[in-house]
Amino acid sequence: MGKQRVLSGIQPTGNLHLGNYLGAIRNWVEGQSQYDNFFCVVDLHAITAPHNPKTLAIDTYTIAALYLACGIDLQSSNIFVQSHVSAHSELTWLLNCITPLNWLEDMIQFKEKAVKQGENVNVGLLDYPVLMAADILLYQADKVPVGEDQKQHLELTRDIAARFNHQFGKQKPVLKLPEPLIRKEGARVMSLTDGTRKMSKSDPSEMSRINLLDSPEQIQQKIKRCKTDPIRGLTFDDGERPESHNLLTLYMLLAGKTKQEVATECQDMGWGQFKPLLAETAIAALKPIQEKYQAVMDDKGYLESVLRDGRQKAEAIANLTLSQVKAALGYSVPL
Ligand code: TYM
Repeated sequence: MGKQRVLSGIQPTGNLHLGNYLGAIRNWVEGQSQYDNFFCVVDLHAITAPHNPKTLAIDTYTIAALYLACGIDLQSSNIFVQSHVSAHSELTWLLNCITPLNWLEDMIQFKEKAVKQGENVNVGLLDYPVLMAADILLYQADKVPVGEDQKQHLELTRDIAARFNHQFGKQKPVLKLPEPLIRKEGARVMSLTDGTRKMSKSDPSEMSRINLLDSPEQIQQKIKRCKTDPIRGLTFDDGERPESHNLLTLYMLLAGKTKQEVATECQDMGWGQFKPLLAETAIAALKPIQEKYQAVMDDKGYLESVLRDGRQKAEAIANLTLSQVKAALGYSVPL
């Protein structure tokens, strides 16, 4: 039996932060040798909120370069750009026609983002999870490693696939139902300015997140000023001490230590002692990523060849699934 397939993606909106890294990319890297992997930069999703056409292409390259810098290995993984494979848009249309409107209206992220967009919410924002379902189903992915905020979108993807198979794949299922791969630790990294809110690219405050490309000075500043609590002795405590829990979790993951080791090490510390330690650890963890990123960005030709190869491999699989879906729906084959 061949390897199971993994698919995941990140939007090229703004810089990647520690939430994206610890919730998603780190898990892609750790698991990649076990699977046949497809990692895309989801630039079609990026225009569901107002975007800047002048930076979309460069932001897309930045994310692809960061995938490589974080350790994605081309021996087992393919990196490609969503808009380069037109089957994503085409399958989205076909799936739109079998997806009930109220399934989309129930999505938490839609409700949250719709409030931010105000009165004239675009159809793309509502349709965002169908495009995500198309991304996954086109590759017949077995596993989808994501942060916790994407769980509901994964459930919807499974519902759409099951509905399609039920209506059009009675003899033989056409689409595979994927499993989410959500790690317990790091699946929900919280904001540095409010431990009860998720670290997010769309938070207007830069101080709320550490970006993978932040300089050592920026990281020190952000950690120095981050929100804490007045209790001495640091503990993991999700309910009562959200900031303490979040900062200790960041330290644990970035230092590669166990929860027990961190709990023991930090139990008698005050914030004045812990903050410089966390800053140093974050700077050291990000340094090799930043160096590799710079090297990749300095060799545009190489990055382009990676994306060209990734696209070719992705397209072959995506087009096959698309033709199976069209056949199941009863479309004629072009002569
Ligand atoms: P995006 O671009 O918002 O986030 C990319 C990945 O980072 C995870 N993440 C977090 N994990 C932990 N803590 C946080 N604070 C945090 N913030 C973000 C997300 O869960 C995600 O795994 N819809 C997706 C992109 C997408 C996709 C796909 C993912 C499009 N098609 C197909 C998987 C498969 C999104 O907006 O991610």
